[in-house]
Amino acid sequence: MANLETQYAGLTLKNPLIVGSSSLTSNAVNLKKLEKHGAAAVVLKSIFEEEILHEYQDIIATSEAKGEHDHNLDYFDYKIKEDNINEYIALIKSAKKELSIPVIASVNCVSSHEWFYFLNKIEQAGADAVELNIFYFPADFNNSSKKIEKKYLKIIEKAKETVSIPVIVKMSPYFTNLGAMIGKVSKKGADAVALFNRFYKPDIDLEKKEITTADIFSTPQEYVIPLQWVALMKDRIDTDLAASTGIHDGTSFVKLLMAGANVNYIVSSVFKNGPKVIGEILDYLNNYLDENNYQSVDEIRGLLSQGNIKNPKVYERAQFMKYFSDRKDII
Ligand SMILES: Cc1cc2nc3c(=O)[nH]c(=O)nc-3n(C[C@H](O)[C@H](O)[C@H](O)COP(=O)(O)O)c2cc1C
Repeated sequence: MANLETQYAGLTLKNPLIVGSSSLTSNAVNLKKLEKHGAAAVVLKSIFEEEILHEYQDIIATSEAKGEHDHNLDYFDYKIKEDNINEYIALIKSAKKELSIPVIASVNCVSSHEWFYFLNKIEQAGADAVELNIFYFPADFNNSSKKIEKKYLKIIEKAKETVSIPVIVKMSPYFTNLGAMIGKVSKKGADAVALFNRFYKPDIDLEKKEITTADIFSTPQEYVIPLQWVALMKDRIDTDLAASTGIHDGTSFVKLLMAGANVNYIVSSVFKNGPKVIGEILDYLNNYLDENNYQSVDEIRGLLSQGNIKNPKVYERAQFMKYFSDRKDII
């Protein structure tokens, strides 16, 4: 059997499969099951910036100073926040106690306000790394892309100053100049970049004429989104890469490694297929490596990244020109 040992964000993992942040990773019982089925690490469910006490105080102070009152804030009270924080710290501690694989904490954040003290608590609780799930919703006409990018970079800078455990940045694909932004995140010192987060989307119920929630799970076709960007970034940045979105089975798992991912995050597939899918994916990887005479997973990592192929432009092709220009028989 080939050697699956993998380096990611300064952590040594027994294989390249990580179960990503979600409700799957929000309690010790689930976490133990994920480890038992072969996960090499887990990213805990995110705690949200708004759940962190100091940030709340800060928002209140700012909105009061501006003479505003945001009614949404009425839903949060101090007690709930303190409970959330204690609960999250307890989750990290119990995960560390119960598991022998690395435990990565996750914070969903949008500002570089006072919530950073919480990163110290995460580190003290024993988390092996922290993932910043940063997302600023870009619908404000008065905000420039430069300003938004600056916010992201400030958060990373402050996180790196605050803790000594590895800092992973989970990014969204929604940047005007995505490649350059990933480059900036890497230069700011992120120990790894996870491409990409996938978000809640609203939908419309035509019968009830109401807003509903779109399917929260990815489809197996979506793996091509991280595949393109992992392949493009692999040789351009000096930072480890995690692929996330649409990796549901062994085939897409191996493809993402070939594109250049150090590790792959799996979420929807575990929801849909149960934790046994972890073992199935690892079996596929092992068989693929054996059948193709590879001794280790490192030998296939980045084999087909942009820098390693004869025609690197294929990863930058965006239009379907070739397929529609001379087809007269389509309709
Ligand atoms: C129910 C659910 C909850 C999630 N919660 C979080 C979260 O708290 N933090 C986070 O960074 N990502 C969260 N995600 C996103 C996943 O970590 C992952 O990036 C996304 O689902 C794409 O991977 P997949 O195609 O394997 O599902 C969540 C996804 C789902 C389906």
